[in-house]
Amino acid sequence: MLKPLQTLFTLIILVAVSACTPLRPGPGHNAIASAHPLATEAGFAIIKKGGNAFDAAVAVSAALAVVEPAGSGLGGGGFWLLHRQEDGYQVMLDGREKAPLAAHRDMYLDAEGNFIPDRSKDGALAAGIPGTPATLALLAEKYGRLPLAVSLQPAIHYAEQGFAIDERHRRLLRFRQQVLAADPGAADIFLENGALPRRGAILKQPDLAKTLKKLAESGRGGFYAGDTAARLVSGVQAAGGIWTLQDLAQYRVVERRPVQGQYHGIRISSAALPSSGGIVLLEALQILSGYDLSALDTVSRKHLTVEALRRAYHDRALYLGDSDFTEVPVQRLLDADYAAGLRSAIRLDRNLPSTYLSDDLPDDPEGRHTTHFSIIDSEGNRVAATMSINFPFGSAFVAPGTGVLLNDEMDDFASRAGVLNGYGLTGGDANAIAPGKRMLSSMSPTFLDDGERVAVLGTPGGSRIISMLLLAVLDYAEGHGPESWVSVPRFHHQYIPDVIQYEPGGLTAEEIEQLGKLGHQFREVSYRYGNMQAVQWNRSSNQLSAASDPRGLGRAEVR
Ligand code: GLY
Repeated sequence: MLKPLQTLFTLIILVAVSACTPLRPGPGHNAIASAHPLATEAGFAIIKKGGNAFDAAVAVSAALAVVEPAGSGLGGGGFWLLHRQEDGYQVMLDGREKAPLAAHRDMYLDAEGNFIPDRSKDGALAAGIPGTPATLALLAEKYGRLPLAVSLQPAIHYAEQGFAIDERHRRLLRFRQQVLAADPGAADIFLENGALPRRGAILKQPDLAKTLKKLAESGRGGFYAGDTAARLVSGVQAAGGIWTLQDLAQYRVVERRPVQGQYHGIRISSAALPSSGGIVLLEALQILSGYDLSALDTVSRKHLTVEALRRAYHDRALYLGDSDFTEVPVQRLLDADYAAGLRSAIRLDRNLPSTYLSDDLPDDPEGRHTTHFSIIDSEGNRVAATMSINFPFGSAFVAPGTGVLLNDEMDDFASRAGVLNGYGLTGGDANAIAPGKRMLSSMSPTFLDDGERVAVLGTPGGSRIISMLLLAVLDYAEGHGPESWVSVPRFHHQYIPDVIQYEPGGLTAEEIEQLGKLGHQFREVSYRYGNMQAVQWNRSSNQLSAASDPRGLGRAEVR
């Protein structure tokens, strides 16, 4: 045992050392990658004001809500994966939307039990109770250093002063123009007499600025109670929705342990349920970890990747849902022996049709929604956040006077067993609608760490999010950096439909011919999909790097 004097001496030394050198020193600079240059700028502005990565995350999230309204917003939700450098603590803030308390299992079925697809996508009945405002309040209060009044300032400025709309915004507006035109509140903000505004037109959102100010002044109560809550509820109910004040008052962010696993020495942390992202990603990687992919030709590598995705997405459909409501065998799905069992049925010389796993189902439409940003600050704190309002411009409904575009995330529930959602995903009882339940997601904010390189990454892209992440992890495993991960040619398989989907250039003609000989079917997606945002810190060289997907118009910078 130490004598009192020795103990005191040791304590003094420890305190002195930790005061001079942080326990885990950071990179000394900051890296931010987001889907919009103004959002990236907002993050740096808040860091300059003394904020850390978590304050910057509040600023970037809120800025994206204003300048990329097609992808996310105060009327939506998401997952914020955090790493606090001083103690290595990692947590996922689950700000996913919840089904209203008046929701019920068959709410999107007609009297004959047929699914009415538009009801879960368009208009007020499609909206879950938003989680983004509550998450920003929690992020600022518990992890940040600055009050919301400071970190929301850039977003308020963009909403008041306006910003020039780009071609991507116009393309997504065109995709949802008809539905937006049907809601006077949404049409008034986003269209010009029902028509598309020209590229470069300035979009001001004064009502949204007021709502952001109330959040800045009063925290979560500025959104979930008082005037904003009253306007949201009366607007939703007048438009046929089922929200109540109780829904808003009861909304809570849940702090969850991220899903964690290993792939060939790389530590992976990713989104926990109610996102399927982390589990599907790690299950597919667990299957692939039984192979030395680097020793195989590219066709075999892609074939095995597809076979791993097929099995992981099959389990997604069978087992995954909100774990607060349903028992999910997470441990089994991520178990090495379970993966070995799945691997034993994979052949290198042919595919295994999805019908051999379960019955076939009809084909799917496509998804282009959501947003992601990645941050590492000078101290080494990290945020990977993927946020959504589901379809581009969500439900296309704005509650009058709020400027808040509501999500259509209710479509992510399995409305009827066997019915595909807007992303062609199927699901079962685990993801059935229930009051207060969170709908299953694919959003997958992710951290990678191989001991030398720390990566923060994620992307929008509906059901294809997880396969994009998988391809990026495999690219990271080959030693490449962020520019390469965000640019990797993309292909995808999600069990149903039983086709390899690929973006233009995602597979070569030779690969298609060879994979076809193994029994695979194909569907070329008409556009290059995804919008990955990634940052990396190489601890050995103490270099930060950042990259924004060349398919999007985002900005990644180190300062
Ligand atoms: N709304 C799409 C997702 O959460 O995966």
